[in-house]
Amino acid sequence: MQQQESPTILATYDPYATLSLRVAEAIKEQLKLAPGSRLGLPTGRTPIECYRILSQWSKNGQLDWSKVKAFGLDEYYDVDESATFLRFLENNLYCSTNLPAGSRYNPLFCDNYDEVIANAGGLDLTILGIGTNGHIAFNEPGTPLDSWTHSIWLTESTKQANSEFFQGTIPEHAATMGIQTILGSRKIILMASGEKKRKILQAALRGPVTPQVPASFLQSHKNLLVMTDFDF
Ligand code: PGA
Repeated sequence: MQQQESPTILATYDPYATLSLRVAEAIKEQLKLAPGSRLGLPTGRTPIECYRILSQWSKNGQLDWSKVKAFGLDEYYDVDESATFLRFLENNLYCSTNLPAGSRYNPLFCDNYDEVIANAGGLDLTILGIGTNGHIAFNEPGTPLDSWTHSIWLTESTKQANSEFFQGTIPEHAATMGIQTILGSRKIILMASGEKKRKILQAALRGPVTPQVPASFLQSHKNLLVMTDFDF
């Protein structure tokens, strides 16, 4: 494990299975310390193995989700229910847990997501991936620092990255937590897997803080853990 000066901690766990296990352990630890934790949860390729591990532990009775509230980071507009991120989270995680149906939140199904999150007590731990264009959740390049949950048109790069999940039309429009929603989380784990994420992670963590690389806004967060499966 390599460490950088605080507040950001960088940890490398190779291979991907180990990285996934470490993130799963961090979530397990969070639920042990605070059984009523409010979690911000991503979709995409990166967290899949972590969710598989959490699902296994949950089925074995090692994890209790009964008091947890889970907040999806983002959601597509205008897709079949089977292609929604809520469905992704249901299939890859929630269905194996005892997380109550009423505790599975999604930005499309809440009138004011930020108010719902605030009323729940704020996010305790948010897990993020990073897009090769520097997005976190669906905060695409150009998203300002003072953004809250909002609708966004996806960039060509994001649509391209998502194309393998869609046979027909690739969604273009989504709702996403904003930068302020994410920065409000007490703890953040940014998970990056694969060499293709190296360059953008470099820009996000060691380059200038700029809306052109939304992940660079994380540099100001006081409790950020960046976990990769490549030396960084
Ligand atoms: P990925 O997506 O996990 O599929 O690489 C990450 C992201 O776009 O945030």
